[in-house]
Amino acid sequence: MRTQVGIIGAGPAGLLLSHVLHLRGISSVVLERRSRDHVERRVRAGVLEQGTVDTLIEAGVGARMLREGLPHHGIELRYGGAGHRIAFDELVPGRSITVYGQQEVVKDLIEARLAAGGDIRFDVENVALHSLESQPYVTFGDGERLDCDVIAGCDGFHGVSRPSVPEGVLRTFEREYPFAWLGILAEVTPSAEELIYARNERGFALHSMRSPTVSRFYLQVPPDADADDWPDERIWDELRARLETVPGFTLATGPIIEKGVTPMRSFVVEPMQYGRLYLAGDAAHIVPPTGAKGLNLAVADVRVLTEALDAYFRDGSTALLDGYSAACLRRVWRAQHFSWWMTTLLHTFEEDDDYGRRLQLSHLDYVTSSGAAATTLAENYVGLPFDLTGPL
Ligand code: FAD
Ligand code: DHB
Repeated sequence: MRTQVGIIGAGPAGLLLSHVLHLRGISSVVLERRSRDHVERRVRAGVLEQGTVDTLIEAGVGARMLREGLPHHGIELRYGGAGHRIAFDELVPGRSITVYGQQEVVKDLIEARLAAGGDIRFDVENVALHSLESQPYVTFGDGERLDCDVIAGCDGFHGVSRPSVPEGVLRTFEREYPFAWLGILAEVTPSAEELIYARNERGFALHSMRSPTVSRFYLQVPPDADADDWPDERIWDELRARLETVPGFTLATGPIIEKGVTPMRSFVVEPMQYGRLYLAGDAAHIVPPTGAKGLNLAVADVRVLTEALDAYFRDGSTALLDGYSAACLRRVWRAQHFSWWMTTLLHTFEEDDDYGRRLQLSHLDYVTSSGAAATTLAENYVGLPFDLTGPL
């Protein structure tokens, strides 16, 4: 079997890349370890930056998102017994976010790809990458082989692509956090119209949503927490304790339909490339979810990689491919800093003393009362423009 671009992984990065390459007449095959049902049900991110929304619309896969996605023009930071709105509509006029589940994006992309006759192989085992320096190929299943000009490693943090790069080539930058997030999905009307990021002495809590009848919540929990130790009543009690801290706010509760624990990590490899292997999305970098950046970064990588591959297959030019990693990393590091910053602003750290807690509150007070500081949060949250070659 032969294709121009062998894509490992059918997450948002791999699927979007396959779709936009097809729009430019470039062939690809996607190899995915899990079943179609599994990737379509995997509950994860929910916040799409303006640029991600625009990208999906431009690629012709935005129709359902435009119908069912929820445009938001602000978020609330809740702490010290009061809520403070960060008003995107005032601070960064014309830019907003859309709340639309990652698995809905994945469903839309799979549908578009299959409708166009695209080749996505699900349930593929034993994927291995070979000959990355010259004529790359992928082996999988029981001795099947896919020859390609280029391989795109879009297989997430635990994938096979990054570890296929020889030892010593990639430099790793990493930070772990002393907590995890317990995420739940509940069949209940959201208790607020906008997302609430709550800083509380008991730990961070986030109130998000998926639709007018489905709410999404996250709780800061110990790093080794087990979802089985969190029966529904315990979750609601904890969410109430961390969110019902302002007058007049009552948390609506309902059946919990999904529960999972997500570790928190910051991680980058440089460069995001080796030979003819290009890494995109979580395969190359991870952020803690507090700033809602992971999925959006994956989309930004894919945009850069698409232009580079287009130039390469059109006229053999390798200049953009050679610059792929550097072109992505400026945004990656901005998002790394923002995600780390939002995480330290809002979580409780056991090692923090009273001094540390006062600093955190002073920082929150600054962000919610200084226009300059609030704009810093807002412009990063709604997402920076795609062209990052000049001043931000
Ligand atoms: P993935 O989605 O991880 O896709 C990789 C694919 O590769 C998977 O389908 C996997 O099965 C497949 N794969 C792995 N190994 C192999 C192999 N050996 N062979 C073949 N296939 C393989 N981001 C945001 O932007 N906003 C948010 O609000 C947000 N919230 C989040 C909340 C949670 C709880 C979590 C866990 C993440 C959140 N993120 C958020 C991050 C976001 O989900 C990821 O950044 C995003 O999924 C990255 O997409 P990707 O395609 O790079 O990787
Ligand atoms: C969601 C996830 C996030 O990480 C975040 O910062 C905001 C919202 C969500 O899943 O809805």
